[in-house]
Amino acid sequence: MHTSVAIIGAGPSGLLLGQLLQRAGIPNVILERQAPDYVLGRIRAGVLEQGMVDLLRKAGVHHRMDAEGLVHEGFELAFDGRQVHIDLKGLTGGKTVMIYGQTEVTRDLMAAREAAGGMTVYQAGNVQVHDPKGERPWVTYEQDGQMHHLTCDYIAGCDGFHGVARQSIPVDALKTFEREYPFGWLGVLADTPPVNNELVYAAHPRGFALCSLRSPTRTRYYVQVSADEKVEDWSDERFWNELKARLPSTLAQQLVTGPSIEKSIAPLRSFVVEPMQYGRLFLVGDAAHIVPPTGAKGLNLAASDVSTLFDILVKVYQEGRTDLLARYSAICLRRVWKAERFSWWMTTMLHRFPGADAFSERISATELDYFTGSEAGRRTIAENYVGLPYEAVEDRPDTVVQSASHCA
Ligand code: APR
Ligand code: PHB
Repeated sequence: MHTSVAIIGAGPSGLLLGQLLQRAGIPNVILERQAPDYVLGRIRAGVLEQGMVDLLRKAGVHHRMDAEGLVHEGFELAFDGRQVHIDLKGLTGGKTVMIYGQTEVTRDLMAAREAAGGMTVYQAGNVQVHDPKGERPWVTYEQDGQMHHLTCDYIAGCDGFHGVARQSIPVDALKTFEREYPFGWLGVLADTPPVNNELVYAAHPRGFALCSLRSPTRTRYYVQVSADEKVEDWSDERFWNELKARLPSTLAQQLVTGPSIEKSIAPLRSFVVEPMQYGRLFLVGDAAHIVPPTGAKGLNLAASDVSTLFDILVKVYQEGRTDLLARYSAICLRRVWKAERFSWWMTTMLHRFPGADAFSERISATELDYFTGSEAGRRTIAENYVGLPYEAVEDRPDTVVQSASHCA
């Protein structure tokens, strides 16, 4: 079998890229290790930047999002017994975010792919990448005990942090940047009315807490827990009590509790690999980078990678612009690092670090006080939170310096 673009992974990155390519008439095949229900069972974040919302519109998967998603014009930062409103819309010249769960985005993309007749191989075992540096790379996989070969022009590694794509690049061709945080987030999903109509990020001496939501009747709450905490040790009652203890008293009094429908602990990590491409293999989304969830950037970074790769591939197939392929990594990484910085900064400022000395704690508290206390500070938070602009694939030719020296 042959296709133009072989996509490994049917998470949001792979499905969104596949859908955009499908609409542009560029043949593609998605190979996914799991079954669709397993993919849809993963509970992930739910804040979409304007850029991602626009990209979902371009992909034609916006109808349910527009009907059911909630547009948020701001969020709250709670600390030191007070709350500061970050007016996203007012501070960014009208930008907002959309509350719409990653699970729903994935569901919509799966439905659109099925309707468009795109080929997805679910439960594809032992996916392997071959000859990514060659003219004609190929991917093998197993299904129903049979080995299949898929030749292609390009491979998109959309297979997440633990996927095979990054691992098939020689280690000495990659540089890895990593930071692990000494804590995780314990998250609870519940069918209860949200405690606040906007998200609340709360810094507290007991640790960070976040009040988020999926809909007017479904909430997603988190509390910071130590890295070695076990989810079995957290009854619903213990979770609700801990959350209440970390919220400003007015919110704590209004909090409606109920049985959890999902409860899990996620570690926090920052991770970037450079470059994000190796020959004809391109790393997209979590396969190339991870952010701690404090800035709500993981899913949104996946979308900006997809947008960049899609724009390049369209020019390759429609205009023969194969010169643009070499720009993918540099364009993505400029935006990735800015989101890494913001996510690290929010995490550092809002969490309690075990063993932190008194000086570090005062600095974090002062950082919050300083940034929330000035319009310039709030604007900095807001412009990062709504998402920095996507760079056009020809905005900033990476070859300018080289061609200037050619002329000299
Ligand atoms: N072969 C085939 N598929 C694989 C393999 C493999 N060896 N390894 C992983 N996969 C699949 C996973 O089962 C998963 O469905 O690749 C998909 C990767 O999806 P995600 O992990 O969701 O990554 P991505 O699509 O990049 O989504 C962006 O950013 O911060 C996060 O929450 C956010 O999950 C979201 C992600
Ligand atoms: C979520 O709703 O799960 C969520 C929202 C904002 C974040 C992280 C997670 O920063």
